Amino acid sequence: MSSLILGIETSCDETAAAVVASGRRVLSDVVASQICAHKSFGGVVPELAARLHVDEIDVVTKRALAAANAGLSDLTAIAVTSGPGLVGALHVGVSFAKALALSAGLPLVPVHHLAGHVAANYLGESIPELPFICLIVSGGHTHLVIAEERMRFRVLGRTRDDAAGEAFDKIARSMGLSYPGGPELSRLAELGDPGAVRLPSARLDQPLDFSFSGLKTAAVNLYNNEKERRAFGKPPAWSDADFAASVECAIVSELVVRVEKAVEKTGIKQVAIAGGVAANRRLRSELAVLSAKKNFTLFIPEQKYCTDNAAMIASAGFFAYLDGVRAEDTLAASAVAEIGC
Ligand code: KG4
Ligand code: ZN
Repeated sequence: MSSLILGIETSCDETAAAVVASGRRVLSDVVASQICAHKSFGGVVPELAARLHVDEIDVVTKRALAAANAGLSDLTAIAVTSGPGLVGALHVGVSFAKALALSAGLPLVPVHHLAGHVAANYLGESIPELPFICLIVSGGHTHLVIAEERMRFRVLGRTRDDAAGEAFDKIARSMGLSYPGGPELSRLAELGDPGAVRLPSARLDQPLDFSFSGLKTAAVNLYNNEKERRAFGKPPAWSDADFAASVECAIVSELVVRVEKAVEKTGIKQVAIAGGVAANRRLRSELAVLSAKKNFTLFIPEQKYCTDNAAMIASAGFFAYLDGVRAEDTLAASAVAEIGC
């Protein structure tokens, strides 16, 4: 008989609940996005995010159970994102999941948000074998890890400053694109020339680490200078689409170069990607080209499982449950948490 896990995710601006069978088969996946509420502020307002999670969490959970045709008594466990993320937002999901687990007499499994992103690769027909490399690229994190076990990770490299998603979002914002900037910038980039504008790349003593703050600052300054030129009636040096395409190309090549180095260094022939930026089309296609060149198998989650969702949390919760992970009564949300060693 399959194990049914209810996953709950509230780490940022999506209230999500899902039911997943045996870590692999998604029976329901409900996401209530707060994008409209935060759009006018140009980014996520943490206090507002927490309050909206309070409004939505019970409705979203009931919908996920109903869509899976499951009751609490059918569940094996409840899994909840306990960190990292916005602490007020996380608290809503953690408190709700604790109360639900206690009242239903179910085990509660805490899930690391990034481990959840990796587990998006476990939803589906073919899943990576262990060990595999995973590039985790979200709004707040950029990590290269080796998954040694389903839920045990060794960090090969991480960003020293900004995350890739943060670079996308801040550059997009300076261009006047609406929140969330990454997908907006990426849409515009499809119409432009990626070779039009030169942007710096990071050289670090640790070749598998990332740095995006230099690229971000250079891009924002370039765009502001260009805006000024245009305000003085000078002809545009390039179009916004060219600029977006160049930014996207620069960020993606920082990521792809390091995946290539990680494959060379470890000899591991299975690579997965995870997190919101993994929804980026250029990243997906450049990695597909690299996988053919370097002869590795590439795993790419469906777009909807790249950005925040609870199916990935339920999947991660299943594998953590098998490992015997259980929440203490004192479980609390934590804004910062390491994914591995
Ligand atoms: O994983 P996620 O949904 O939330 C976090 O855990 O942070 O990632 C959100 C990030 C944002 O920075 C968003 O702009 C970026 O993922 N993103 C994209 C695309 N879709 C989402 N960045 C580039 N291209 C996309 N298509
Ligand atoms: Zn995320």
